[in-house]
This record gives sequence, C-alpha cells and structure tokens, in this order.
Amino acid sequence: MSNPILKRRSVRKFKDTPVSREMIDRLLEAAMAAPSACNKRPVDFYVISGEEKLHEISMCGRFTRMKAPLIIVVVGNLKRALPLEFSEYWIQDASAATQNILIEATALGLGSCWCGIHPQKRMVEKVRAALGLTDKEIPLSMIKLGYPDEFPQPHSGYDEKRVHFVE
Ligand SMILES: Cc1cc2nc3c(=O)[nH]c(=O)nc-3n(C[C@H](O)[C@H](O)[C@H](O)COP(=O)(O)O)c2cc1C
Repeated sequence: MSNPILKRRSVRKFKDTPVSREMIDRLLEAAMAAPSACNKRPVDFYVISGEEKLHEISMCGRFTRMKAPLIIVVVGNLKRALPLEFSEYWIQDASAATQNILIEATALGLGSCWCGIHPQKRMVEKVRAALGLTDKEIPLSMIKLGYPDEFPQPHSGYDEKRVHFVE
C-alpha cells in the first residue's frame, strides 16, 4: 500500500534520531497547503526540538510518556480569524493543517501522533504558558513526530454502514 492516507497510523514510540530541517520544512509546507475558510489562514505553527522545551510541552498533557524528538503545536490565532460566528472556522482550518502534517509525515517515513489540546481548558492554559501565547492564541493540537520505533499495521477503517447515498 503506497497511499500515505491509508498507511497513516498513530505512532507513539519514536527513535531519538533528530528530524532534519528539510523534513520539517516539508511538513510545514504541507500544513500550509491545507484549505482554509475564506482563505483567512489564522493558524500558526510552533516547532519544538530542544530537549528542555520538548519535556516542558510534553508535561502539559496526558501523553507525557510519549517521548518524541519533534513536536509541532498547531495554534489558532483569533486575531486573524473570521469575524463573529464564523470565527470558529479556525478549528477546522487548524484540523486540516494538522491532518496534512500527519499525511506528509507518513509520506516521508516519519511516525506521528495527533494529541488533542483544545477544548481541554487546563491543557490550553499550560501550553499557552509554555509557549508564551496570548489569550487570542489557542493551541489545537500537539503533533508528536519522529522516526518510528513501532509499526502499527495500516487499517482503512472503511465501514459501509456509515455511508449514506442520497439521490
Ligand atoms: C482530535 C484528536 C485528538 C487525539 N488525541 C490523542 C491523544 O491525546 N493521545 C493519543 O495518544 N492519541 C490521540 N489521538 C489519536 C487517536 O487516538 C487515533 O487517531 C485513533 O485511535 C485511531 O488510530 P490511528 O490514528 O492509528 O488510525 C487523537 C486524535 C484526534 C483526531
């Protein structure tokens, strides 16, 4: 199976090997190629590879034992979001960017795991403090990345009961 969408699985064990700057750039390029409501692109990316910060960020959540050499935190920036009731589209924009990173990581032979932050208020506050974010910046996801040290089998998840053809 070569399709990285079907090959992608959550990887929670990583080798210590660092991820190169070139690969990080590919991940970010994929992230920023994601669709965005009205093309507002109210999403920023915090790339963490320093030992101390990795530890600090990891301690913000329930997934503290999942040690990875690279974390990308995907952050919605409300200052650039759509107005009024449309502002919450930032969540979908940030989710699309997160998913693109996971797919590109798979294509590059990296493992990845989407760890949710928003809407867990305590975790949002902790990550904000660790990254020096304002209250207009909301971390949506923390993506753990690195060379995999476990290899979950691809699964398609296809379930025809969830499909409803409407004519
Ligand atoms: C919004 C969201 C939040 C998630 N948060 C976590 C998390 O905190 N910790 C974790 O280990 N996995 C997390 N995951 C990964 C899911 O557990 C995983 O995608 C699911 O079990 C399906 O497995 P797969 O990714 O290998 O297909 C999250 C996934 C999503 C989409």
